[in-house]
Amino acid sequence: MTSISTYIEQNRDRFLEELFELIRIPSVSAKQENIPDMIRAAEFLKDSLEKAGASKAKIFPTAGNPVVYAEKLISPKLPTVLVYGHYDVQPAEPLDLWKSPPFEPEVRDGRIWARGADDDKGQLFMHVKAFEFMTGTGTLPCNVKFMIEGEEETGSASLEKFCRDNKKMLAADVILISDTTMVAPDLPSITSGLRGLSYMQVEVTGPDHDLHSGIYGGAVVNPCNVLCDMIASLKDRNGHITIPGFYDDVLTVSRKERNEMAKRPFDREKYMKSIGVDDLGGEKGYTDLERTGIRPTLDINGIWGGFTGEGTKTILPSKAFAKISMRLVPDQNAEKTASLFSDYFLSIAPRGVNVKVEYLHGGEAYVSPLDTPEYQAAAMAVEESFGKKPIPVRSGGSIPIVSTFEKILGIKSILMGFGLDTDAIHSPNENYPLFNLFKGIETIPLFYSHYARLKK
Ligand code: BES
Ligand code: MN
Ligand code: MN
Repeated sequence: MTSISTYIEQNRDRFLEELFELIRIPSVSAKQENIPDMIRAAEFLKDSLEKAGASKAKIFPTAGNPVVYAEKLISPKLPTVLVYGHYDVQPAEPLDLWKSPPFEPEVRDGRIWARGADDDKGQLFMHVKAFEFMTGTGTLPCNVKFMIEGEEETGSASLEKFCRDNKKMLAADVILISDTTMVAPDLPSITSGLRGLSYMQVEVTGPDHDLHSGIYGGAVVNPCNVLCDMIASLKDRNGHITIPGFYDDVLTVSRKERNEMAKRPFDREKYMKSIGVDDLGGEKGYTDLERTGIRPTLDINGIWGGFTGEGTKTILPSKAFAKISMRLVPDQNAEKTASLFSDYFLSIAPRGVNVKVEYLHGGEAYVSPLDTPEYQAAAMAVEESFGKKPIPVRSGGSIPIVSTFEKILGIKSILMGFGLDTDAIHSPNENYPLFNLFKGIETIPLFYSHYARLKK
């Protein structure tokens, strides 16, 4: 019988060509103009899953982008794995910073360069190909379901309802997701937690039109200055967030667990070099890894207002805006945090301006227990294919729908991701090493067989 590594070797070029076809579809969920591409990407995946051996594959329209569902159920006696992924991608801008066009994938230096190469088309594709191998060789040891959405990058607005409406169809023992990173191929890891998110937009309005900054400047409250002051006051000198009640529900992580975390090798110099900075900064009293793994944050994602064009223009602007996101940890609630933010932000607004706060989207953090058959199966699979026992790592990123899956479907997720932090997801020149792509395809069938055995 063909082994998975032989199968990968024999089908390598076809796999890449198929993945490239998916990547060439610019399925940017943030843009209205790409709606036809969302439908094309969903159709492509439905066809791929059918060809890979699904006995049923269907596109479910939603109020937003369609969800692709597929399944192959072999026996009610066997456990069921529900694979989740997303076919939507982040916008590719700024385009001029790409070394090759974002939707024209190419291989250089052993990596695929394109938007979605990792997040999440590349990672999702590994599951389709592992599934194809298992159905083709008659080695599928579990029932499998696929649920692939097209709105993850904009907050998964339609997926909660989809889950509520299709609870029975989605019933499973575990959700398997590859949409996170590992530390390195020679230091494999499994994501044991994700942070939550509350994403806000604020708008400060002063005078009802831009004013001459000489005639009016000095006497009129400037909304851009005010916005800077207000945002600056959201943190103290120690990097602590000053919003009253913000930390009330933050679970303290035990000294023991922090010591365990500290064992993970971390090369500060290399880390700084990889992002082009000469120092790091954050909340006092915590290490770099703790700051991204177990502590909440507040960051400006974008800030604008007034004159930002070429040259100079002497105005006192009418409006200022910012997009501000807070990464959350257990047990912070996204809506509660959004309202704490909103109450506080409005309370510090000076007279002379009008402030509006909007909650755009969010979701709660997620923690994966380590003593379950599904985590053990993932750990064994990764150890077998990478030749090293993986360590559990709490990731700083968010997949807010994962906590919703637990709430609505009552199913825990396993975050077996094969990306690297340096894959530049969401940035120009996103890339995915071919090594990780093929190792991922190799690891997934191992997960299934260990899981089926451990669940017996
Ligand atoms: N795949 C990422 C999340 C991720 C990446 C987790 C790397 C851990 C490591 C996902 O597509 C993503 O980008 N999520 C967003 C949140 C979403 C609501 C926009 C994020 O984390 O910013
Ligand atoms: Mn993703
Ligand atoms: Mn993403």
